[in-house]
Amino acid sequence: MKRVQVAIIGGGPSGLLLGQRLHQAGIDAVILEQRSAAYVLGRIRAGVLEQGTVDLMDQLGVGQRLHAQGLVHGGFDLGFRNTRQRIDLHRLTHGRQVMVYGQTELTRDLMDARSACGAVTVYDADEVQLHDFDGTSPRVSWRRHGVAHELQCDFIAGCDGFHGVSRASVPPGALKVFERHYPFGWLGVLSETPPVSHELIYSNHERGFALCSMRSLTRSRYYIQCPAGDTPARWSDQAFWDELRRRLDPESAERMVTGPSIEKSIAPLRSVVAEPMRFGRLFLAGDAAHIVPPTGAKGLNLAASDVQFLSQALVEHYQQRSDAGIDRYSGRCLHRVWNAVRFSWWFTSLMHRFPDGGEFGQKLQEAEIGYLLQSEAAATALAENYVGLPLER
Ligand code: APR
Ligand code: PHB
Repeated sequence: MKRVQVAIIGGGPSGLLLGQRLHQAGIDAVILEQRSAAYVLGRIRAGVLEQGTVDLMDQLGVGQRLHAQGLVHGGFDLGFRNTRQRIDLHRLTHGRQVMVYGQTELTRDLMDARSACGAVTVYDADEVQLHDFDGTSPRVSWRRHGVAHELQCDFIAGCDGFHGVSRASVPPGALKVFERHYPFGWLGVLSETPPVSHELIYSNHERGFALCSMRSLTRSRYYIQCPAGDTPARWSDQAFWDELRRRLDPESAERMVTGPSIEKSIAPLRSVVAEPMRFGRLFLAGDAAHIVPPTGAKGLNLAASDVQFLSQALVEHYQQRSDAGIDRYSGRCLHRVWNAVRFSWWFTSLMHRFPDGGEFGQKLQEAEIGYLLQSEAAATALAENYVGLPLER
């Protein structure tokens, strides 16, 4: 049977980042991805990178296009009561900023680097199964175009997202799952139109939350809060633009350039954490272990920090014969994960209309936004979480 040091399940950002880091360290890894490369690149996901994620891309030698095409943002606007106020991330965090660069582009850069260095990704891997990861010789098996394959490995990295097979393979009772579901979703539209503003606008409005984001200077990404269970088919482009405009300050609504949607989809909002993130020789990383609502733009950044801890642990194992990093993997990740879960929950709670929140909840929300907009201390707490807390070693 063929052997590899690390079998990575899933070729999204987590799997690709890990694959690149292991390749750099001379650790042999194969990625098994159930979809095609084109399908993976067709998914539209978030697009705000913390400095730590940009640094990781640089360390991996794949930061060139990101620096050439990514947009550095030193702040964003909070919309409230028909006006906007800027949160100056750069000033409040003593010089930190974020980079707006679509996850699709980051994925493409990593895929290109992976093919350039000849590392193997098996696309269209069906029925991936994980075996014996609680013992000393794990295996993975899969089928491709009807043919069965099997691979022996030292470790399995479960990077297969929220609906993947890795977390589901852990025996029931060995994982504890913490979750909260929010009573709304985000309807997102991508359009080939210039963004309404040069920075993002997060808007709290009585009709519901709205977000103005972008992919480039000519491509916009907009979202509006919609009821849980809503479907994109119920929203014509015109209905979307009308509703978005209603939720913005008059000046932004006026300036908004609209056009046909290139993509329109609805994402549910939830917070989920599975603990621990290691089970024997299986590690969970990224969305396979945790989901945050997109309000804080933390999903991809958490995937990147998991990968940093995991690659460090594996490098220590192979190069220094130390398992200290492996033993600390789950605790280190979860510390950071819970900070991001808390922040994403807080920002979500602050910005959305809760159908069951009641008048008292509504008043509290308004008081808190008012406080945020006039207190340097409150704005600083928002800013330092948004740009990303430092990675604790
Ligand atoms: N076998 C093999 N591959 C699988 C399986 C399976 N059974 N199930 C899922 N996958 C693949 C998916 O097709 C996908 O390409 O695993 C990949 C997981 O990728 P993502 O869902 O993007 O998750 P991850 O790589 O952890 O990326 C971090 O955080 O908030 C988000 O937007 C952010 O998607 C980003 C994510
Ligand atoms: C996006 O551009 O898709 C985006 C930006 C910021 C968020 C969420 C999504 O908080």
